[in-house]
Amino acid sequence: MFKRISALLLAGLTAMAVASCGSSGGGTTSAGTDGGADSITMGFSQVGAESGWRTANTKSVQDSAKNAGITLKFSDAQQKQENQIKAIRSYIQQKVDVIAFSPVVESGWDTVLKEAQNAKIPVILTDRAVDSKDTSLYKTFLGSDFVEEGKKAGQWLVEEYKDTKDPVNIVELQGTTGSAPANDRKAGFAEVIQADPKFKIVASQTGDFTRAKGKEVMEAFLKSTPDIDVLYAHNDDMGLGAIEAIEGAGKVPGKDIKIITVDAVKDGMQALADGKINFIVECSPLLGPQLMDLAKKVVKGEQVPARVVTEETTFTQEQAKQVLSTRQY
Ligand code: AHR
Repeated sequence: MFKRISALLLAGLTAMAVASCGSSGGGTTSAGTDGGADSITMGFSQVGAESGWRTANTKSVQDSAKNAGITLKFSDAQQKQENQIKAIRSYIQQKVDVIAFSPVVESGWDTVLKEAQNAKIPVILTDRAVDSKDTSLYKTFLGSDFVEEGKKAGQWLVEEYKDTKDPVNIVELQGTTGSAPANDRKAGFAEVIQADPKFKIVASQTGDFTRAKGKEVMEAFLKSTPDIDVLYAHNDDMGLGAIEAIEGAGKVPGKDIKIITVDAVKDGMQALADGKINFIVECSPLLGPQLMDLAKKVVKGEQVPARVVTEETTFTQEQAKQVLSTRQY
């Protein structure tokens, strides 16, 4: 659309210049030619609404598009790759100026990304990566370093148990199978804890990043696995579901079973401040403003960095108490 409007305006301006008509009001600068965002349309395919993080991310994208004057076509894929592929194909048909999406899983995107490339529509990956070898299929990837997040979780654990010689039995609630955050948070955590054989992951299963599944899988872990010392959940929501299961089994979360999660959404931070979670690694969902800036640049054909990493921190129980009232999401 941007390209079409630009072409029309250019043709109009050229015609005016050729006719040398100095009439007032004829030569106003248009959003299309000065790179203003008024005429940019973005097609955005969201993973779903599986977690508090995702809800905050959707709001950030929608609010930022509005503030940037970008027209947003938004679709929710309900955690299904086929829905995302359908949405991207429909954005290609609609000739949007830029496509952004958060891929539910890492693999299987090459064909549809090639279709976007052939249609000359730039693609921005946001939040999650794809494993395509051909990196020319997308302009940039904006999001967290999930391996680093897993490492931070592992480092806290190593420090917490530094004076213990006994085995430390860990259960892990993984995110959506095949997704970048599940793969990378697992890998980063494993890399750090493998330095000491006392750390043992005794059970590991997906909880699909949802509270309900986190609860269900933790209930199963509690039945099948004796002596759980630590739960590592790849997001707050699964951790919060697991807390319900732990309490239901008559144990005290944060004490009988130490809990590490990732995200730092408000509910997670509240549980951390209440002593039910022990440590949270932050993953910021507020990607909207940076996404809109990148979108404007790629539509104008400007160079953008191939990778934009989100800045993040970690929280202990004390830190959670201090920042809880000002937490945005
Ligand atoms: O991709 C980011 C992850 O997806 C968040 O950690 C999780 O909560 C979400 O569903």
